[in-house]
Amino acid sequence: MTTDRVQDLIARMTPEEKWGQLQIIFRPHRADAEDLVRRGLGSVFWPRSAAQTNALQRVAVEQTRLGIPVLVGLDVIHGQRTIGPVPLAQAASFDPELVRALAASAAAEARSGGVTWTFSPMLDVSRDPRWGRVVEGFGEDVHLTAVMGTAMVRGYQGEDLAGAGAIAATAKHFVAYGQPEGGRDYNTVDLSPHRLRNVHLEPFWAAVAAGAASIMAAFNTVSGVPMHAHRGLLTGVLKEEWDFDGIVVGDADGVRNLLPHGVAEDLADAVGLAFGAGLDVEMGGAPWDLDDAARARVDTARLDDAVTRVLMLKERLGLFDRPYVDEAAEITAPTPASRALARRAAARSAVLLKNDGTLPLHAPRRVLLTGPFADSTDHLGAWTQSFGAAAGTIADAMRDRLPHADVRVMSGVDVLDDDAEGIPAVLAAARGCDVVVVCVGEPSSLSGEAASRSDLRLPGRQADLIRAVAGCGIPFVVVLENGRPLVVADWIDDAPAVLEAWHGGTEAARAIVDVLVGDAEPAGRLPMSFPRSAGQVPIHYAHENTGRPATTGGTLTTDVVDIGVQGPANVAEKFTSKYLDLELGPQFAFGHGGGYATFARSAPAVSEGCVRLEELEAGRSVTVTIDVTNTSERSGDDVIQVYVEDVVASIAPPVRRLVAFDRRTLAPGETTTFGMDIGFEQLGFWRTDAAAAAFVVEPGLFRLHVGSTLTTAVPVELRVE
Ligand code: GLC
Repeated sequence: MTTDRVQDLIARMTPEEKWGQLQIIFRPHRADAEDLVRRGLGSVFWPRSAAQTNALQRVAVEQTRLGIPVLVGLDVIHGQRTIGPVPLAQAASFDPELVRALAASAAAEARSGGVTWTFSPMLDVSRDPRWGRVVEGFGEDVHLTAVMGTAMVRGYQGEDLAGAGAIAATAKHFVAYGQPEGGRDYNTVDLSPHRLRNVHLEPFWAAVAAGAASIMAAFNTVSGVPMHAHRGLLTGVLKEEWDFDGIVVGDADGVRNLLPHGVAEDLADAVGLAFGAGLDVEMGGAPWDLDDAARARVDTARLDDAVTRVLMLKERLGLFDRPYVDEAAEITAPTPASRALARRAAARSAVLLKNDGTLPLHAPRRVLLTGPFADSTDHLGAWTQSFGAAAGTIADAMRDRLPHADVRVMSGVDVLDDDAEGIPAVLAAARGCDVVVVCVGEPSSLSGEAASRSDLRLPGRQADLIRAVAGCGIPFVVVLENGRPLVVADWIDDAPAVLEAWHGGTEAARAIVDVLVGDAEPAGRLPMSFPRSAGQVPIHYAHENTGRPATTGGTLTTDVVDIGVQGPANVAEKFTSKYLDLELGPQFAFGHGGGYATFARSAPAVSEGCVRLEELEAGRSVTVTIDVTNTSERSGDDVIQVYVEDVVASIAPPVRRLVAFDRRTLAPGETTTFGMDIGFEQLGFWRTDAAAAAFVVEPGLFRLHVGSTLTTAVPVELRVE
């Protein structure tokens, strides 16, 4: 797709001007940026004000030969001025509309300052919480990642990229970055075509179908080929099979990294490989470090195709006609509306890991807040630009909400230090309190890029603090603020109630108190399994059953199902897949969670117990329904999930696979029917054992497991003939 203006520009551009459009240079100083833009740089990182962005844009439009406006790129990952919950937390909300609204709010703030391109959403499916960037994605599940990722794309881009509140989205990191060996960032990824197609590519296909404007190449190799030089995937799949007409942008210095990858002799080789593979924009400025002869390795057709893609994005953004932003309309701080949205989002992302009834707090008179997060403002999480509005403290939010209570604060331990000397004073301060709230977690610094951890327990002496508080016999609750699933086995049994609040953003503190006192429902569900030990990783629910699945030998209650089974292994079954020194299954499974309200649920039903394959192929679907009643005195949310079990398939199927979910609020006593359509797309999988991959549904028996958590879902049968 192109326009006369773009075609005319390409016909007039010199090679130097073309190459200028195919780079984005990050973190330039103001002087450099103006010189680079004057030289013809087409895109730039520019975390500045609207006025400064307009000034830079004037250099592009008025001081260059062709006056092509620049794209202003930035990592607007979970907010710009108003920071929302980290993406992993947003996934836990199981609320795509919320994710879309947060992205739209961030886009409005960013575009008002002149940003036109964000490097978000991250769609890397990951089953390895050692990897610090799980915080930036939507967890271990393919469907949840695809749904949340497309919601974020739609939120950023809106209906028209030229709109005042729209920015171009970038689905990243293409592809399989979330499966690095050892959980170490940037490390090798080696996987089968089967897993590539059925897990890692699916969310990106969904984002392309939703109109994502750009795709970012990943740092890693896939089966030996660095993604920045992977023609089979960047061009073969993305541009030819999927007909993607947007921009493929490199990651920071990803093209230069082809040298340490060992696949390029020099920078000219790296640039030639990358653009020949299908890269359109290099991030870092490598092409300008080469002369024309070195760049000539990239043929004119490929060069013009890349420039066309870049200029067409500028057309779609309306930059040629309106290159400047209205400085008077710049959003420079959170608004009441954006704060309210962020607060609601942080509460809806919270997951109640366990609760013996201590939560919600019942008008406590004397409260002790302890732990390093009690009086901390570190709630923003990884990836907030310098713009992000600071968060308040839980202590202040608690005092605001309970003005008549005696709220004491004593952190007791630092978030990282190995020093427990402050714990005795905490126990002394706890005496006479109605409840102690232990606020613990991971600092933002241990989360995000280049932040992999080999030990997934709470850092420092936080677990000692929890156990000491448990020993003083006063009711207490634990609030967790973290950017990844943690190993909690060393204290979880001592805690009566645990709220997973993640890194919740600018309004996290108020949202946490909203949930603690019951003003808001903690009805989120886990988007990633919590392992019992780092030794279990990678761990996820959608695993294959194996030929020798371990079981608990029936020693556990019915709430345990054989989905990788949870609980003590049946030691009589020696030759089965288990650990000798660890119970089976995760500490908390994907989809785990609850809330304060209680619900009664009917048995699930399916509109037809049997459907013909050709009908599915023609677009027919069946409907799964379940009636849910709020049996409590308070409003509450239920999150109904549908998992497919393909009982027998030509390729070993996962034991379960999430294919649909829906979160709804029910008033006290209200009954509602959840209904979800199950068709070809939900029942199929990719077969990769032939020359060309094919998405198929195979006749046979399926079980559709329906419920509010994975481990309590109830099956209903569907046969495909
Ligand atoms: C980083 C990240 C990428 C980000 C880019 C620009 O290295 O891998 O996600 O968008 O650089 O900051």
